[in-house]
Amino acid sequence: MKKKLIAGNWKMNGATATNAALLQQLLAGVGQPACDIAVCVPAPYLAEVGALVKGSAIAVGAQDVSAHDAGAYTGEVSASMLRDLAVRYAIVGHSERRQYHGETDGVVASKAQKALAAGITPIVCVGETLQEREAGLTEEVVKRQLAAVIHTNGHCISEIVVAYEPVWAIGTGKTASPEQAQQVHAVLRAQLRAATEHSDRVQILYGGSMNAANAAQLLGQADIDGGLVGGASLKAPDFLAIIAAAA
Ligand code: 13P
Repeated sequence: MKKKLIAGNWKMNGATATNAALLQQLLAGVGQPACDIAVCVPAPYLAEVGALVKGSAIAVGAQDVSAHDAGAYTGEVSASMLRDLAVRYAIVGHSERRQYHGETDGVVASKAQKALAAGITPIVCVGETLQEREAGLTEEVVKRQLAAVIHTNGHCISEIVVAYEPVWAIGTGKTASPEQAQQVHAVLRAQLRAATEHSDRVQILYGGSMNAANAAQLLGQADIDGGLVGGASLKAPDFLAIIAAAA
C-alpha cells in the first residue's frame, strides 16, 4: 500500500543551532514511522541537515531548484547540486515563488523536469487564490497548473509528488475543510489517471494551515496522501503529532 508523506516546508526560517535542536527532537520522537517524512530546508542548510538526519527515517528536501543545468544563473541552485548533497525532494512551484518570483506554469514544469532528470522527486505545488475560488475557478486553475507539468514530463509523471495548497489557506490559519480538499484532490487524481496508468502511486499532499488538531481528518480523506506543512513543521511536538496522524 502507498505510504503517506509528511513533508515540512521550513520556508525562510532556521539557524544552525535551532535546526540542530529541532532535528534532535524530531529524531528522538519519530520512532518507526508508518509514513515517509521529509524536511524541506533553506539551501544553505541542506548539507548540514543531511548530515544530521543521515540513516534516519527523515529525508531532506530543497524548497526550489533551477530550471537550468549550469552556468551564468547567479543565485540559483541546480538539480545536480542537490543530487550531490543526497537531497531526495525539491518543492517546485510553491505559490510564494509563483507570486513573489514570477514563476509561470512553464518554468515550474521545467523545474520539475530538471529534478526528475537528476533523480530528485519534485513536490509540485498547485492551488487557487481566494479570488479564483470565489470566481468558481478552482478546478480550472489547479488543472492548468498540473497539466503544464504533465505535458512537459510525459511518462515520468508517476514519479512526482503533487501538493494541493489553496493560497488562501497558507499561513492564514484557515484550513480547507476535509471535504473541500478531497474534492480538489479527486480532480487531480482523475487528471493523473488520464495521464498515466501508475497514477495511484502518486502521493497527493494537502498544504495550508495543517496542524496537530486538523491533520487526522484531512489525512483520512480518500485522496489525501500526506501533508506539506509550513508553520507547524517548525515545532517538533506539532510536526510529530502530524506524523503520528498519518499512520
Ligand atoms: P502553513 O502550514 O504555514 O500554512 O504553510 C503551508 C505551506 O505553504 C507549505 O508549503
